[in-house]
Amino acid sequence: MKKFFIQTFGCQMNVYDGQRIAAMLESHGWQATDKIPDADLIILNTCAVREKATNKVFSALGRVRRAKRPNAMFGIVGCVAREAGATAFRRIPELNFVLGPQSYHKLPEILNNPDARLLNIDLGGLEKFDELPQMEKSPAVAYIPIQEGCNHCCTYCIVPYTRGRELSRPFSDVIRDCEHAARTGAIEICFLGQNVNGYKYTAPNGTVYRLSHLIREAAQLPEIQRIRFTSSYPTEMTDDLIDLFKSEEKLLPFLNLPIQSGSPDVLTRMNRPYSLDLYIDIVDKLKAARPDIQISSDFIVGFPGETDSDFNQTMDIVRRVRYINSYSFKYSPRPHTAAALMKDQIPESVKAQRLAALDAFLNDIQREFNESCIGKTMTCLCEGADKTGNHLVYRTPYMQQCIVPAHDDAPVLADIRITAANKASLRGELVK
Ligand code: SAH
Ligand code: F3S
Repeated sequence: MKKFFIQTFGCQMNVYDGQRIAAMLESHGWQATDKIPDADLIILNTCAVREKATNKVFSALGRVRRAKRPNAMFGIVGCVAREAGATAFRRIPELNFVLGPQSYHKLPEILNNPDARLLNIDLGGLEKFDELPQMEKSPAVAYIPIQEGCNHCCTYCIVPYTRGRELSRPFSDVIRDCEHAARTGAIEICFLGQNVNGYKYTAPNGTVYRLSHLIREAAQLPEIQRIRFTSSYPTEMTDDLIDLFKSEEKLLPFLNLPIQSGSPDVLTRMNRPYSLDLYIDIVDKLKAARPDIQISSDFIVGFPGETDSDFNQTMDIVRRVRYINSYSFKYSPRPHTAAALMKDQIPESVKAQRLAALDAFLNDIQREFNESCIGKTMTCLCEGADKTGNHLVYRTPYMQQCIVPAHDDAPVLADIRITAANKASLRGELVK
């Protein structure tokens, strides 16, 4: 039996794409392996969001080149494929294929033709969703993409280039995927999109479906106990969606609502046209709807022209919202983006200083929140055993990792009393 190796970098959307590619290869009779020297086909499923991510892919390609069997086929799919295009063949002449995030369903074209080269970085829209086979069994957490691409055009972001204009999948297709996941093992559904709360599908009869409709429909499935969605854009957080946090118990009390910066000037240059007042108003409405809700964010420090005072405004918003579990990044100039051409690029040393200060602050708040959970009982979802096999790893409703002593008949969804906490994780015990 022929074997394939696939390594995925980057966001949840890529994780999903990787699962679909694996399912497709398995349906063609291939078997997965985690050893490059054993593989007949090697695929790197790539991320281009920051320069570091792209560099990581090219160094991994160097490693694959040395470790692979001489006649094994190898190639890249995903955002670096789209970013690099034909230049990837110039950098790594042995590559067999370079397929963008919306053309990886073309992979079978090359499987019978190992000497060919396949370049396809077209934006095929939603085609891939229809062309690929479903996964036979769903993991406990089913990631279900509901759209492709993004229309927001933040000036730093390569995603609108790599994944194209925003397209929402038909409502009935998404619900069919939810039903399939529920039937085959899913307990939690996470709806995915670059601008997930902007989901908008107009059916042929004129009915308009939004994310709130998808959540309500998925919540009807008895197997599904938890629902969440990522990643949201602040101004798409409409009242129908906010109200669901009050009425829909299966919706987790946790939301990633990236603000990126606390400075109105920087937000304007990022082309994220919302005011801090509006953002805070949305957070307050969410808290009113669901008093135990917690918010996380993504932050970029060192955006072109960011002054000390701009950066301090980011620290102020962190103080105000008290985010848990956030992601923070140094601004990275990307090809095909407007910000890369802006004047006043910030020196690396300043970016590093600001990131360290922001991270220290975010970590303090996260530790404080984790410690506040000690003594509480939370319903958590099991992700599997840790490396030692002596512990089970659960996820709380706030996506904190919670480590529990291994137990033969531990339920997948379990009530866990939190007994200890640090910045990174919690410890707990099953409540009988
Ligand atoms: N809405 C998307 C955002 C994709 S990029 C989502 O699904 O999450 C993820 C995060 O990477 C962004 O929120 C932003 O904080 C960060 N990011 C994007 N481009 C960046 C760049 N050029 N430099 C640094 N960070 C960046
Ligand atoms: Fe990127 Fe902004 Fe869209 S961060 S994915 S352009 S919302």
